[in-house]
Amino acid sequence: MIEIRNLTKRYGDFVALHDVSLSVAKGEFVVILGASGAGKSTLLRCINHLAEPSGGEIRVDGELSRGDRAGLRKVRRDVAMIFQHYNVVPRLSVLKNVLTGRLGSMPALMSWFQLFPREDIDAARECLHRVELEHKADVRTDTLSGGQKQRVGIARALAQHPKVILADEPVASLDPKTSRKVLRYLQQASRDSGITVICNLHQVDYAREFGQRVIGVAGGRIVFEGRPDELTDEVLQRIYPGGLEGPTPPEAPAASVAVPTPVAAHAAPQLALEQP
Ligand SMILES: Nc1ncnc2c1ncn2[C@@H]1O[C@H](COP(=O)(O)OP(=O)(O)OP(=O)(O)O)[C@@H](O)[C@H]1O
Ligand SMILES: [Mg+2]
Repeated sequence: MIEIRNLTKRYGDFVALHDVSLSVAKGEFVVILGASGAGKSTLLRCINHLAEPSGGEIRVDGELSRGDRAGLRKVRRDVAMIFQHYNVVPRLSVLKNVLTGRLGSMPALMSWFQLFPREDIDAARECLHRVELEHKADVRTDTLSGGQKQRVGIARALAQHPKVILADEPVASLDPKTSRKVLRYLQQASRDSGITVICNLHQVDYAREFGQRVIGVAGGRIVFEGRPDELTDEVLQRIYPGGLEGPTPPEAPAASVAVPTPVAAHAAPQLALEQP
């Protein structure tokens, strides 16, 4: 599903990713582990062109992923992103947040006015059902707990009908019980819907528990690729050269939402997004 060949990313003279090559199969749940600054987010951001690769190529479902207008529209439709800080719109209802996952597949005019056809509303409710939040559909999203907001993030990603979900430390701000719950929903998305999931994590325990495969990144290079049960002390030393207790990862900034670009025109609008 994802083929990365010789991906390099430079920021000025600094090389954040060195010649990274990686294949991820359809429906696979891959965990990326690495110390703070290793290049995990940069790798995910290059896949959906939130960061423009400096060299190499990325294919999603066989198609070359490009940073031009048409390429971006396609990648933003096929690839959903989940962030550490949820990126929900606080004053919108839970349902409307999930519906924003549909914007990339909507006609330009409807997308502009944020009007949604009935079938999209029904599908959004179904996505909320999958993360057990159907009962919260009509409340304002800023009344939810962190774990619930992240489940809204997952429901929004599911509503997009993506081929791939990229999750950048989706549980970094959550307690262990809630983290496992959130990761289970992501696992279900890959198992039940065949969605390919690439998930950046800091916690080795969760990588062991949820990853079908683990990729270790250090200094912008892949230093390990294997099954979770192959994460030996020696391997962890390679992934975390400064030790697992190393510096606490900095708080990520409240990242900008990757707003999908609208595409074609069809059905009748039923619901507008504005909230009192
Ligand atoms: N926009 C940018 N401009 C310059 N340097 C950057 C930029 N984004 C990332 N970097 C650098 O690239 C390297 C990799 O950063 P990245 O955010 O990918 O690390 P990470 O593995 O996700 O770390 P963390 O676990 O802290 O989130 C770091 O040294 C970082 O400072
Ligand atoms: Mg990061």
